[in-house]
Amino acid sequence: GKEIIFLSGISKLETNEERWNPFPWYREMREHNPIFFDEQQRVWNVFRYEDVKRVLSDYKTFTSERERSTIPIQLESSINLTSVDPPEHRKRRGLLASAFTPRSLDAWKPRIQAVVDFLIQGISAEDLSKPVDIYERFAVRLPVTIIADLLGVPNSDWEQIKEWSDILFLPHHQEEIEETTKQKAKVMKEFGAYLLPLVKQKRSQPQDDILSDLTQAEYEGTKLTDEEVVGSGIGLLGAGNETTTTWLTQCFYYFAKEGVYPQLRKQPELIPQACEEVLRYHFIASLDRAVKEDTDVLGVPMKRGEIVIAWMSSANRDERQFVGGETFDIHRQNSKEHLSFGNGQHFCLGAPLARLETQYAMTSFMKAFANIRLAEGYRPWDHLVSHGSTLTSLPIYIDR
Ligand code: HEM
Repeated sequence: GKEIIFLSGISKLETNEERWNPFPWYREMREHNPIFFDEQQRVWNVFRYEDVKRVLSDYKTFTSERERSTIPIQLESSINLTSVDPPEHRKRRGLLASAFTPRSLDAWKPRIQAVVDFLIQGISAEDLSKPVDIYERFAVRLPVTIIADLLGVPNSDWEQIKEWSDILFLPHHQEEIEETTKQKAKVMKEFGAYLLPLVKQKRSQPQDDILSDLTQAEYEGTKLTDEEVVGSGIGLLGAGNETTTTWLTQCFYYFAKEGVYPQLRKQPELIPQACEEVLRYHFIASLDRAVKEDTDVLGVPMKRGEIVIAWMSSANRDERQFVGGETFDIHRQNSKEHLSFGNGQHFCLGAPLARLETQYAMTSFMKAFANIRLAEGYRPWDHLVSHGSTLTSLPIYIDR
């Protein structure tokens, strides 16, 4: 595997409260230190919108083919998408791309709506008198159910799938690295052993699902091996899960906190836009690339092989791109220019799916319920994933 770069060693955000609200640090960096080299781990860091976008998309200068990385999951599969550049990348992406076009997703709309309706119906009259953990009851279950269905994995196993993918995506922390690495290796084994018989069965009797399609897909004239299909399955089950859950949870949180829920309910045409604003305003994310040849395109000399971290959640608040960027505004015209889905060749393949899920979820929720309010005394930073910045609980009151 790749050598691990620890994000926490760079940002020095120590408390959960700082991890929940790294925005003052980002702002400080954008204004006074927009491109800096961390001597300890020997990595570049960029914080401004234009620079972040360039690092993500200019693959001729900033390659995805790197020896060191911050990313928590390393799938060294021969068809891994995130660690190769074009033209190789285009071939691999083609294997999956057709499943995620807006047109293919049209077929999934009724299924997504059915799962949304099922989860809403699960909120009983009794639930309305006390706080409901909307993370657990809704935001976790929608993405994991849908991605399992899409891949053709029994969605009744959602709890197991969720547990595995959560572990695989746990952020790396210096003090616990040996333990986390062991834990992840164990999960890879178990997850693989679970998927392998399913993949074998789908190879002999293909169904209408993505795993079946992958068993039939050809890469450079040969079919993918069972192991390659299993590897892609693990990658997709993970990629489609925690990210979308976090987005949904943050939508509930900000619509309640900012008091915009009743307005969105009255003007549902604003919902997609408001959901994008959540993804711009608060979605903690960064990615890394390696310098391909010595360059000074960003105005400082960077050497071949050096790693550059692009801090998207800082770029998303950059006043140079978003007027009043530190303010949450559901009427902002250009929210969708956020970089939370990446940019360029590697732009998130699942973005159309994640958008569909989030828009359907919020629209149907608003049809069913008049308002939501945060539980008294709720402090998001008391509920973050270990050493990370994502929520693991969100109790809200739901008004009929
Ligand atoms: C790539 C974010 C949901 C599948 C990416 C990248 C980002 C991202 C930033 C770019 C990686 C890079 O440039 O190295 C998100 C966010 C999501 C989300 C914020 C939800 C809110 C999903 C879903 C799926 C998915 C639902 C699939 C079921 C993928 C795949 C790639 C990818 C396969 C690799 C694309 C490539 O390298 O060509 N995602 N993602 N994502 N995402 Fe997502």
